[in-house]
Formats: sequence, structure tokens, C-alpha cells
Amino acid sequence: MTTNTKENGGSSSGGGATGERLSLVAICLDTEAGLELRQFVRETPFLRLQAEVNTYLTEEDASLTWTRPPGPDICMIDFDRDRPNAIVTAERIHERLPHTALFAVSSHSQPSLIIEAMRCGCSEYVVKPIDREQLLEAMARVGARRREKREQSLGQVVAFLAAKGGSGATTIATHLAALLAKSCSRRTILIDLHPSCGEDALFLGVTKYQYHFYELVESIDRLDSDFLQSYVLHHPSGLDLLPGPDFSEPIRRISTESIGQAIDFIRSKYEFVLIDCTPGLTDQNLEVFPRADHIYVVTVPEVPALRNVARLLDFFTHHEVSQDRVDVVLNRHQSKNSAITDSQIEKVIRKKIFWKVPNQYQQVIQTINAGDPSAQLSSSEVARSILSWAKTLGTKPPDERERKKSGKTFLGLFGG
Ligand SMILES: Nc1ncnc2c1ncn2[C@@H]1O[C@H](COP(=O)(O)OP(=O)(O)OP(=O)(O)O)[C@@H](O)[C@H]1O
Ligand SMILES: [Mg+2]
Repeated sequence: MTTNTKENGGSSSGGGATGERLSLVAICLDTEAGLELRQFVRETPFLRLQAEVNTYLTEEDASLTWTRPPGPDICMIDFDRDRPNAIVTAERIHERLPHTALFAVSSHSQPSLIIEAMRCGCSEYVVKPIDREQLLEAMARVGARRREKREQSLGQVVAFLAAKGGSGATTIATHLAALLAKSCSRRTILIDLHPSCGEDALFLGVTKYQYHFYELVESIDRLDSDFLQSYVLHHPSGLDLLPGPDFSEPIRRISTESIGQAIDFIRSKYEFVLIDCTPGLTDQNLEVFPRADHIYVVTVPEVPALRNVARLLDFFTHHEVSQDRVDVVLNRHQSKNSAITDSQIEKVIRKKIFWKVPNQYQQVIQTINAGDPSAQLSSSEVARSILSWAKTLGTKPPDERERKKSGKTFLGLFGG
């Protein structure tokens, strides 16, 4: 039996709008509940078992070694093995991963125990043996809340990573950002993560500016809305921009953790936070990837770049970045006379190409010179291609009433 303790909304609309799976961590589940859960996850396409942890957090050691912020969507904690430490575990996770839903799992269902679990942050109380249908409903509630939060308060973090320097990450990030802001009317900010010689501002026609992203990160302790706004540049498309340093400067003593904290704050202020990453698996990028709702690996149809794509995809698979969060964008695509065909590319990278941006050097240069991709729709095939992509990402979903009218079930929404 599953008892809903905090919110009995029971909304049947839920899941990721993008079809992303809910990630799940199981903590100290007994053998039988663990088996049931694994079977349940295997049979439920919108779930992913991220980790099974066999120790509780304790007052002495409350370090969360098995995850990083923002954490999994759901933690299921067995309260039967050691109730006091299960409570400590729930409290610490609740404090540090406020976006993670906590499910208490127990054979005991006395109201006082349910209330105790609720007080330490659990939103669901799952009574053993686990009833699949009710667990499914509880998970759907988490999916619905995640979706609402994303839409209402937490912006989507979207990272662009060039498979190889010069593949077009900055070109694509600047186009997509300006078009999300202008054509989709989305509150969008673009962050240039390059620690030196950032080019995003230049691509957007901004040649002089005073402050850059790394200076903001240096002052992370002072970060609030006003402080953020004093660093942000405003582009005519409606896009906000945090540029990178436009020159080489001595390496700054900032902790990479502060980069993550800055992104966490910024995503609470915008609907879309686009990040133009540095090429490679740099420390800065490793702070971005776990937070990214989506990572676009930008490549060109050349063997060295494609080899790097395959390696990056392997890296993501081995580092808990699920396949459905990563897509490959083929830039400088030629439908005719290409030395490598699209199907050969897909064979090498073992993944479908998500988007193809045409090879139009003159148009891209013209857009960079004019400094506003959103103003180039009539003359640039590249801008029009990226507009269609921006629309798939940025078109607002119909509101709840519209959704009810269309009669979509929550399972449909989970599937995207
Ligand atoms: N679709 C395209 N068609 C033709 N030329 C393009 C296209 N996209 C990008 N380019 C050109 O390729 C060059 C490199 O692009 P860009 O600077 O966006 O790559 P990058 O991946 O950001 O590189 P870096 O590693 O320097 O950050 C630029 O001169 C740009 O004009
Ligand atoms: Mg670049």
C-alpha cells in the first residue's frame, strides 16, 4: 500500500514534458523490496534506477557520496533496518537536495510513524509489500511536480559542447538563445563558460562590456537577483547574456562548485539557461553536466570530430548522464556531395542525429557581423533551421485546462 502523506493532489498529468525518465535512488531497501523495485523499474519505461545505496547517512558522516546536486528525482529509503538513521538520512537529503522527492518504505503503517516520516521530509509512505499500482501513482505525482516546477520556477539548463574546437557550438548556442528569446518569448540567458577568450558576446554584436561570468562566480556569496542583473548584458532579441572574459587572464582562484551554485541560482530566474561549454571534459563542464536537462554535442561531418562524439557519448553513459539527456547536432551538414553520409555518421556514433544545421558559411559570417541571429530569418537558412529547433524546445505547452480538454492521460505525458 502507498499512502500519500503530504499532497493528495493525485493529478494524473505528470512526467517530463521532454519524455525524460525519472531517476531513482534506493537506500537500504531489504532484499524483497529491492527485488520488487528492480522488477518495477524494468517494466516501467519512464523510470531509471540510478543507484542502490546500502548504508544510511549518520550524524557523524552525512556526506552524499552517491549523488551531486540537483540529485535524483526520487529517493526511496527503507525505514525498517535502522529507523533513527533512516530519519537522519531523510533529513539530510531533504536539506541538501530540495528537489528530490523522498519516499519512506516500511512494513509498519501506524499513523505516528507516517507523521514522523513526513516531518523529516518524506512526501510518500510506501507500505511493504509494495503495491505497484499505487507506487506508479506516487511516481506520477513526482513527475507532475517536476514538470510544474520546471515550467514555473526552475529554468531548463541546456549545454552545448563542441566535439572538437570550431565545430560550431558558439554559432548554434547564440542562434538558439536569441531565437528562444525573440520568437518563443522565453526568458532566456546565455552563459559563456569559456574561462578566456569567450566569443558569445562578439557573435551577438557586443564588443565592449565590463564584467564577465567568472567575476560573478568569484562573488558567489553576494549573488542575489540585483547582483545578477548588474552583470547581465541585454541583447536586442530580448536575450540576456553573461559573457566570458574576452581576453586571456591569469587563472582565477574559484572553486568549480561555485560555478554550479551560480547556475543553480540563475536557473531560478530564467526559463532557459543556455551554456556554451568549453571543448573537452574540463572541470567547469563537469560542474554543468549533472545539472543540464539537456546536453547537445555539436559536431561536424569529419572523422576526428565524430570519433570524439563517440567518446563523449561513452563518457556520458559511464557517468550517469542518461542517453535521453544527450543529443548529437550535426553542424555544417551538406545533403549532397558529403564525404560521409548521415547513415555512416550514425553508425560511427551509434546514435541518431538529432538536428542537422546546414553548411552556409557566408550566412553565418553575415549573422555574426550583424550581431543578431533573430533578425536574420529572412536571409539565413541556418537561422531558419535553428528556429524550428527553438520551437520544439520553447513552444509553451497548452495550459492545464486545455490539456484536460484534449483528454491526455499521464502515461501519455510521461512518454513525451
Ligand atoms: N552552419 C555553419 N555553416 C558554415 N559555417 C559555420 C557554421 N557554423 C559555424 N560555422 C563557422 O565555423 C567557425 C567556428 O564556429 P564556432 O566558433 O561557432 O565554433 P565553436 O565550436 O564555438 O569553436 P570554439 O572551439 O572556438 O569555441 C566560425 O567561423 C563559423 O562561422
Ligand atoms: Mg566557441
